[in-house]
Amino acid sequence: MASEKQRTAPSSVAHWIAPSILSADFARLGDEVRSVLAAGADLIHFDVMDNHYVPNLTVGPLVCEAIRPHCKVPIDVHLMVKPVDRIIPDFAAAGASIISFHPEASEHVDRTIALIREHGCQPGLVFNPATPLDYLDYTLEYLDMVLIMSVNPGFGGQKFIPTTLRKLTDARRRIEAAGCAVRLEVDGGIKTDNIRAAAQAGADTFVAGSAIFGSRDYARTIREMRQQIAL
Ligand code: DX5
Ligand code: ZN
Repeated sequence: MASEKQRTAPSSVAHWIAPSILSADFARLGDEVRSVLAAGADLIHFDVMDNHYVPNLTVGPLVCEAIRPHCKVPIDVHLMVKPVDRIIPDFAAAGASIISFHPEASEHVDRTIALIREHGCQPGLVFNPATPLDYLDYTLEYLDMVLIMSVNPGFGGQKFIPTTLRKLTDARRRIEAAGCAVRLEVDGGIKTDNIRAAAQAGADTFVAGSAIFGSRDYARTIREMRQQIAL
């Protein structure tokens, strides 16, 4: 809750790498999750698409529950579904740690944030490339995560949208001004050659799907990403 949040200096915030299983081999999902954790992942990013809010269809609470025993790290559920409230208790019961949603997909954003918290999970709010940050005006203190989309949601393997960097800077400024311990995550088109720019713009949590699962050596890719953001 807002009153329990602590002030956090940006320099003291650890960088987290969050592989998106959207680009994993779904026929071997348990192995893929174990491999990417052994390779040094900090979170598992779990993309939920409904073929309604976004034009693609992926996985739901059953798959979250199936991978939970294989995850020693938090599961970072990214809901790209509309409506959102009905499915939140199911993801909480399936072992989700963080649950993020798009404000356009909820009729009552404040209520959805509270619902996620009531079910014992950490709420996050997600901003599409053209969505302004105004939704944070009266919600930031209740959030644990702000997720800035650097592609339009729906598919892995898309190209990073450059205006995201300016938006990350704006979001970081808001978080600093509020003095809240809120993570700032970036999602879409993150590779070893642009992760540094995202970190310099203020991101501390980095989703990467195709860059990690499309590489031969997950550990090497994650190590290279960490080297880039440590510079
Ligand atoms: C897109 C998803 C992303 C996606 C990222 O809608 O939210 O998490 O998996 O994939 P890459 O890293 O390949 O852009
Ligand atoms: Zn995502």
